[in-house]
Amino acid sequence: MVERKQKAPTEISALTKPKAKIELMRLSLEIERHNAHYYQEDAPKISDADYDALRRRVEAIEAKFPDLVTGDSPTQKVGAAPSRAFAKVQHAVPMLSLGNAFSDEEVTEFVVRIQRFLKLDEIPAIVAEPKIDGLSLSLRYENGELIRAATRGDGSTGEDVTANVRTIADIPNTLKGKNIPAACELRGEVYMLKSDFLALNKRQVEAGEDPFANPRNSAAGSLRQKDVAITASRPLKFFAYAWGEISELPEDTQHGMLKWLDKAGFTVNPLITLCKSVEEALAFYRKIGEERAGLGYDIDGVVYKVDRLDWQARLGFAGRAPRWAIAHKFAAEQATTILNGIDIQVGRTGALTPVARLQPVTVGGVVVQNATLHNADYIKGIGSGGESLREGRDIRIGDTVIIQRAGDVIPQIVDVILDKRPGNAKPYEFPTTCPACGSHAVRENGEVVTRCTGALICPAQAVERLKHFVSRLAFDIDGLGDKQIQEFYDDGLIMHPVDIFTLQKRDARAAKKLRDREGFGETSVSNLFGAIDIRRKIELNRLIFALGIRHIGEGNAKLLARHYGRFESFRDAMLAAAAGQTAEGNESEAYQDLNNIGGVGEIVADAVVEFFAEKRNVKALDELLAEIEVLPVEQAKRDTPIAGKTVAFTGSLTKFTRDEAKAAAERLGAKVAGSVSKKTDYLVAGDDAGSKLAKARDLGVNVLTEDEWLALIEA
Ligand code: IVH
Repeated sequence: MVERKQKAPTEISALTKPKAKIELMRLSLEIERHNAHYYQEDAPKISDADYDALRRRVEAIEAKFPDLVTGDSPTQKVGAAPSRAFAKVQHAVPMLSLGNAFSDEEVTEFVVRIQRFLKLDEIPAIVAEPKIDGLSLSLRYENGELIRAATRGDGSTGEDVTANVRTIADIPNTLKGKNIPAACELRGEVYMLKSDFLALNKRQVEAGEDPFANPRNSAAGSLRQKDVAITASRPLKFFAYAWGEISELPEDTQHGMLKWLDKAGFTVNPLITLCKSVEEALAFYRKIGEERAGLGYDIDGVVYKVDRLDWQARLGFAGRAPRWAIAHKFAAEQATTILNGIDIQVGRTGALTPVARLQPVTVGGVVVQNATLHNADYIKGIGSGGESLREGRDIRIGDTVIIQRAGDVIPQIVDVILDKRPGNAKPYEFPTTCPACGSHAVRENGEVVTRCTGALICPAQAVERLKHFVSRLAFDIDGLGDKQIQEFYDDGLIMHPVDIFTLQKRDARAAKKLRDREGFGETSVSNLFGAIDIRRKIELNRLIFALGIRHIGEGNAKLLARHYGRFESFRDAMLAAAAGQTAEGNESEAYQDLNNIGGVGEIVADAVVEFFAEKRNVKALDELLAEIEVLPVEQAKRDTPIAGKTVAFTGSLTKFTRDEAKAAAERLGAKVAGSVSKKTDYLVAGDDAGSKLAKARDLGVNVLTEDEWLALIEA
């Protein structure tokens, strides 16, 4: 935002009518200009407060000269609210995303997984729905009346778009029909017809505005208008397909619920089909794929959902996606271009990743210049399981290649056109040294990845680790992005994480170096120090994620933080586990405990222990801890009968499967152990229980039948 000194405006009391008229015209043009910057370009040029001041001045002048009010005045546009930020809305039940399947096999696996999880003899009935390419919306109804509408936002909190949504004809203000719950969140997709999108873009261009990239963007841009009149003028539509919180379920199947939504006054997609087998579901996918181009709206795949709602409930969620639904995506869009070069990027774990530099080409409306080439084998035409890719065709610089883009996934090179290969093109030789530090680059046994061996000397790894350390889900330090990290590293100002926090107090030379940086004045320096200071307090999960340990993403970091709660407990346990490491394995209690955290497998456990087994890592961590304070994380749910308890299962279970029991126990905050020890709180024993049962009796562990267990968790 640019701050400009402005001439003080004339006192309104001193304005003559002709001057007021000119001033009003000037103000409405200015407001309109700022509206465009804000709404169409998402790039405001003035602060909200300044914008509001402009509007208030219009109101004041119009109050003095009411006959100067015209239909064009910013005060006359329906619903133009005074404040420009949308209020935040907390979803009662989060709006989660869906897992993806890209092949028939993955769909079959999805159904088999469900069968196994629920221990079903038959194939569960599946509802197949077109996956509408729009934006999802949650509508809250109380006593049948629409009271709030919210966008998905980050899944937990969305934006309040109630006023905008009331202008969409497909969305009823009052629910009709029978069985209306006292309170419910009904959900679906806002979209725009392709024909309406084209017509709207034509109008945009004629009016000198930028056109939208696709119907999805134009639906999103049209809904998120602070001026409701603009939303009302845009042809938005809505398909209902899901719900969040609901006080009473009117039906007990997905397709029953869709019929109910239809009766309640919503539009439900007419193509939705109930399928009795995987074959039927896949046939639906193929049919819809063929009809796709002729549909009036964009779809990007098919969503399969388990029909029975009691089964949906038992299946529950794994991470951010339901186990009872999956999105089967359509094949990605492809284009042909030339491979100009291959660059090697070095990641924070030392992985050397080849990146294709392409002759720019448009694929599905997006210009693509880079594509991933994965690893050395991929370039050679060898798959991760040793199988041949592209019928063994390798990829060479100068080749004409087919690239593919699917959704937000990084574009890939999927094939090579051999007829167009230049005569002098040579097979690509994957480097055997790291391009950043010159250390040997090796492929470990059985690994497809080539790694730089210079972990502690490689500047690329150090810089990538630092970038990760300050990234959004880690320390998230304002003003310390990828670019600054690289520059500060090159300058020797930040070489290790702790340097970020000692920057301010280090010798005057460092501070001077900072201030002397181009475009980095006194204000930027003090802003940066302020942003760093804010992060001297950090939640445990963010710290764990920031360490950049292999296999520890955001989700695993949270699991660990919720298990250990406090930094000290985490550190002590990891050091104990590291001390327990032997050539034969790790028998230490700390390691077993880590391994038993639901969702944490051996690979993850080993990676954390390996990190703590390296003394230099522990030293670096301790140095960092001298500068920051780690906030504890609330340990797994405390308000359930089994929260914090350790449970084990044995024998053959008949009321639920092992997976299901484990998932339910973890959801309620219990730890599930593979064996019985004196730390076990409950052993749930099915028929034919053997040694675990005997051991539990010996140790005096509480033994429950399946029914007793169900009664306990339902309590
Ligand atoms: S069900 C718990 N059904 O796809 C999951 N989603 O990739 C509830 N979408 O955020 C979603 N059509 O915006 C569902 N028939 C459909 C859908 C659909 C489009 C979107 C939705 C969701 C995204 C997930």
